[in-house]
Amino acid sequence: MTSKKIIVTGATGQIGSELVIELRKKYGEQQVVAVGHSKPIEGELSSGPFEIVDVTNKPALDELVQKYRPDTIYHLVGILSAKGEKNPDLAWRVNMEGLKNILDISRDRGVTKVFWPSSIAAFGPTTPRDNTPQNTILDPTTIYGVTKVAGELLCQYYWKKYGLDVRSLRYPGIISYKTEPGGGTTDYAVAIYFEAIKNKKYDCFVGRDTVLPMMYMPDAVRATIELMEAPIENIKVRTSYNLTAMSFSAEELATSVARCIPGFVCSYNPDDRQRIADSWPRSIDDSVARKDWGWKHEFGIEEMTKDMLDHISTLEASDLL
Ligand code: SER
Repeated sequence: MTSKKIIVTGATGQIGSELVIELRKKYGEQQVVAVGHSKPIEGELSSGPFEIVDVTNKPALDELVQKYRPDTIYHLVGILSAKGEKNPDLAWRVNMEGLKNILDISRDRGVTKVFWPSSIAAFGPTTPRDNTPQNTILDPTTIYGVTKVAGELLCQYYWKKYGLDVRSLRYPGIISYKTEPGGGTTDYAVAIYFEAIKNKKYDCFVGRDTVLPMMYMPDAVRATIELMEAPIENIKVRTSYNLTAMSFSAEELATSVARCIPGFVCSYNPDDRQRIADSWPRSIDDSVARKDWGWKHEFGIEEMTKDMLDHISTLEASDLL
């Protein structure tokens, strides 16, 4: 096994909690340090080191990096789109200062690779909405999207100026059952499954015709690790790679759930998150990622729905929900 030392920030979040587990399987449990803001470790994250550090506290972050001397950092901390609109100052501080701290410390302490997530939220209302190309208009209307565009450019700057190997993906909406997402616009595509199992109905906060690009968590985790393991000469995009697996409307999602849960009913009551959803692409062209480092998704909507419902039913049967 390659001797690697990895730090994952945002380790208790939706993506972080699953990425830590995969990285520990691959590189060894003690090799992957999970870093959370405040939450104590629960369940599987206790299999290896866990530290509580606020990424906006640069001295504390620097101490952490000096303690573990990682060669790779996955910096996943972030305030998502809907929560960011409620507190733009917090979103700016956590998303931008946190990233700048990680980039500075990585440069100064010899970290060789950094991963940072961008998002479909980097796009905006004048971006082409169908098959959105890799290089296109970035005019986000949310503070979250603004931090993603600025962050992408900052990552590229550190690569060009300091040679820091920063890699990034523009994640679509990520669907998973282990940790619920917090404060995103695409959260309905997760909540629908939990409500379907619990109550056989769901009141969706975007309209039935809302189409967004999405991905099932196992694909998202694999994409992240594959990007980070690709040879450096294959990484041609230093802002952030477009990435997708599927696109569907809220109604198509509800139909796929109803196929597995007869009697399931979905209603639609758009709230202010509709405006955010309407400013994002309906589908993404990720052919550059496919060409540069061989990205290939595995899960489509039907496989995902079956897998989500199987796992949530098991959790419910064991009283974990
Ligand atoms: N899923 C995120 C959100 O809805 C988008 O990156 O905010």
